Amino acid sequence: MKRGGRPVTTAARVHARFTRADVRGAVAGLRGSVSFQAPLREYTSFKIGGPADVVVEPADIEDVCLVVKQARARKIPLFVLGGTNLLIRDGGIRGIVVSLVRLRGIKEEPGSVLYAEGGVGMPTLIGYAIRHSLAGLEWAAGIPGTVAGCVVMNAGTKLGEMKDSIKAVRMVTMTGRIIEVEAAQVRFEYRRALLPRGIVVGVWLQLTQGVRSEIERVVKDYLRYRRDTQPLAMPSAGCVFKNPPNDSAGRLIEAVGLKGARVGDAEVSLKHANFMVNRGQARAADVIALIGEVRSTIRRRTGVRLDLELKIVGET
Ligand code: EPU
Repeated sequence: MKRGGRPVTTAARVHARFTRADVRGAVAGLRGSVSFQAPLREYTSFKIGGPADVVVEPADIEDVCLVVKQARARKIPLFVLGGTNLLIRDGGIRGIVVSLVRLRGIKEEPGSVLYAEGGVGMPTLIGYAIRHSLAGLEWAAGIPGTVAGCVVMNAGTKLGEMKDSIKAVRMVTMTGRIIEVEAAQVRFEYRRALLPRGIVVGVWLQLTQGVRSEIERVVKDYLRYRRDTQPLAMPSAGCVFKNPPNDSAGRLIEAVGLKGARVGDAEVSLKHANFMVNRGQARAADVIALIGEVRSTIRRRTGVRLDLELKIVGET
């Protein structure tokens, strides 16, 4: 990788027409944190991923607008972290990686509405909803991602989906403007929200007034179910495949005998076959090889084509 007045990378020739000075210029003046050559494994639930040219944690929404404008002026790609259904390849990500972890505000508004900034973790939001006797998010118990990540992928479980509660979304557009998008203007699909291009920085959720002890009981029961059936204590990226119509990917993978299959330190979980876990030093290449093996075996043995729920990004 060449630095200083030369292209930052040779791997991403398609869009990496920027220099180290461009990257520095794009992150100049931010009030949040800026880390160059930051290992992305630290930022993912899978604990896998090569380095980013730079990771920024904007201090607030205005800081997000600033980095978007400055990156656009220099044609530097931006990638926003947030979801946990993510695998970053071993070569990492060129350009600017944005983490919204500092956007952590939550407030209750009249009419049982919660406004949460994009970097709020789902467990934190559920805790807040319980304390305020607000029902509607119980389905998300045990989901570790951020609110923004859950909006973007319309996260869901058998009990419900993000779209069931979204009232409106606050975004920073690719030109660095703040906009508000009503839920009615957004098409939500299975694990996908068709939003305007930009960064989700906040969401208004329409909840309902409930009884605190009842909400807490549902959350605890569901957490227990997930702890009993999913490898929540090991690094993973949640479910790897979407469920095929009227079936469960986990059931199919177990049925063909692939529980425990391994490539390097990547393993098909012994607890839930639609999870892959990192037993320590797994590389993205190991996970990708294991995904290939699972898909081809399922296709050959059952005729079912498994589609990825996991999003794979970055350079090889
Ligand atoms: N099953 C097996 N073997 C396994 C896993 C599951 O036989 O290894 C069987 C179970 O016994 C059950 C059926 O498959 O009869 C369904 O299993 P489960 O209740 O665990 O649900 P799932 O369809 O595998 C979905 C979501 C999960 C979510 C759970 C619980 C998808 C792709 N998966 O899993 O979401 O946590 O329901 O609500 O939608 C995620 O999105 O990252 C995720 C993990």
